Amino acid sequence: MTQKQLDESTAYLQGKGFEAPEIGIVLGTGLGKLAEEIEDPIEAHYNHIPFFPLATVEFHTGKLIYGSLEGKKTVVMQGRFHLYEGYDFLDITYPIRVMHQLGIKKLFISNAAGAINLNFKKGDIMLIEDHINLQGGSPLAFKGVGNFGDRFTDMAEPYDTTMRDILVKIAEKEKITLQKGVYASVVGPQLETKAEYRMLKIIGADAVGMSTVPEVIVANHLRLPIVAVSVLTDECDPDNLKPVNIQEIIEIAGKIEPKMVRLFRELIKSL
Ligand code: HPA
Repeated sequence: MTQKQLDESTAYLQGKGFEAPEIGIVLGTGLGKLAEEIEDPIEAHYNHIPFFPLATVEFHTGKLIYGSLEGKKTVVMQGRFHLYEGYDFLDITYPIRVMHQLGIKKLFISNAAGAINLNFKKGDIMLIEDHINLQGGSPLAFKGVGNFGDRFTDMAEPYDTTMRDILVKIAEKEKITLQKGVYASVVGPQLETKAEYRMLKIIGADAVGMSTVPEVIVANHLRLPIVAVSVLTDECDPDNLKPVNIQEIIEIAGKIEPKMVRLFRELIKSL
């Protein structure tokens, strides 16, 4: 990753009309519908953006969509890159750097996750307050990282407290259950064993998934305020573990999605 590459990616998008977006949004598995609500959309397929990671076959819907949401210029990533698809940490966080260079001031992230905290139910949304990186690496561990932002990025409060407070108030007003907790990121793509779910609970995780943390680390390195939510698609009870079915996870994410869309729309309105 070089500054020249970032400049070329950014120039390509600006040439298509991606002018000064204020907000960037990353949509997780089964959570792509918000992108369809963007007004006056301009689309850029990942495979057409210079230096974007090359999309795999199963990833054909990946695109950046620019337009207006609640009157604010927004750029949405419909589909993200995961380590489990064979990409590396620099690949999966490249789009965050591009959105930052386009000018976003805030980043919203969503993902589908399993509930480790058994007080939470399938179908709940969890506001991420903190995280545990179990992906065995960092998107900041490369030569010259200091030219792009902080190398020793502080992670004392990686999720913006102001936007978190606003989201809690919105959820109350909209009567949407919003749990709060710690998200642990694993590489995947295999799901966890019973022993791993027990460990995740012991170390303090409330939810587990295969994304988000690398993007959040890079956003902190770029000093970009973040708000992130997990849509809880299954309950990970090690003493009563049923096989999870990815199709079912996607289906449940789709059912919860309208609530997540409402939270994000109201949050944009309030900013
Ligand atoms: N682990 C367990 N359950 C899940 C996950 C995961 O990574 N993602 C969504 N549900």
